[in-house]
Amino acid sequence: MARKPIIAGNWKMNNTAEEGAALVKALKPLIADAKCEVVVCVPAIDIPAVKKAIHGSKIKLGAQNVHFAEKGAYTGEISASMLLAYGVKYVIIGHSERRQYFGETDESVNKRTLAALKAGLTPIVCIGESLEERESGLTEKVLDRQLREGFKDVEDFSKLVIAYEPIWAIGTGRTATAEQANETIAYIRRRVKRLFPHKNAGRMRIQYGGSMNAKNAKELMAQPEIDGGLIGGASLKPDDFAAIVHFDR
Ligand code: 13P
Repeated sequence: MARKPIIAGNWKMNNTAEEGAALVKALKPLIADAKCEVVVCVPAIDIPAVKKAIHGSKIKLGAQNVHFAEKGAYTGEISASMLLAYGVKYVIIGHSERRQYFGETDESVNKRTLAALKAGLTPIVCIGESLEERESGLTEKVLDRQLREGFKDVEDFSKLVIAYEPIWAIGTGRTATAEQANETIAYIRRRVKRLFPHKNAGRMRIQYGGSMNAKNAKELMAQPEIDGGLIGGASLKPDDFAAIVHFDR
């Protein structure tokens, strides 16, 4: 079965609830005939307003993190059941910004991923190498570690999405070439199949993320291994995000 493309916006720490609702209202008519899955991953406090604003559209709601415990003394964190109560379907886990600035590790990524899956959320788990790692020829080694540790005990890879985001391409305007992205994503799929046999890895979707925009989306999405995009900056502009969603035009 073909894997359905998935284009997700990661708003990061942008947009008040009101601004977020206005953004998706502008986006709705632009993507009404989208053939791919469309997701917006919004700041937690925007979730109620955005949930209301996407009503009657194809846009699905996503969050940017989830805690691994069901509830309890974890000041500042949000549980899967809290997200589910607002119709959240997707959740980004282990974004490189969280790994870099907030001490997220492969182990905590693994715990959050397993908790999200158990609750019925679809995790969008981010992996990727730094520029230094790529230039020292360590890309595959780093990805291998992130896969091995971050996806331990996952039973069904068709229930999650991996976002391959080379750190050097995030917010820099420096995109991986389509061939580079395709090759690395092919490696990721091969590795997951090898590390986790018989866990449905063939049906797992893998996105590319890092300076994906209205201009380069078509070429990236034409690559056979790339099943979607995780979009930062360009997801804040309805026209640009809609153009990415319509990569097939
Ligand atoms: P940019 O699209 O702004 O480079 O961000 C990519 C990203 O980090 C998405 O999660």
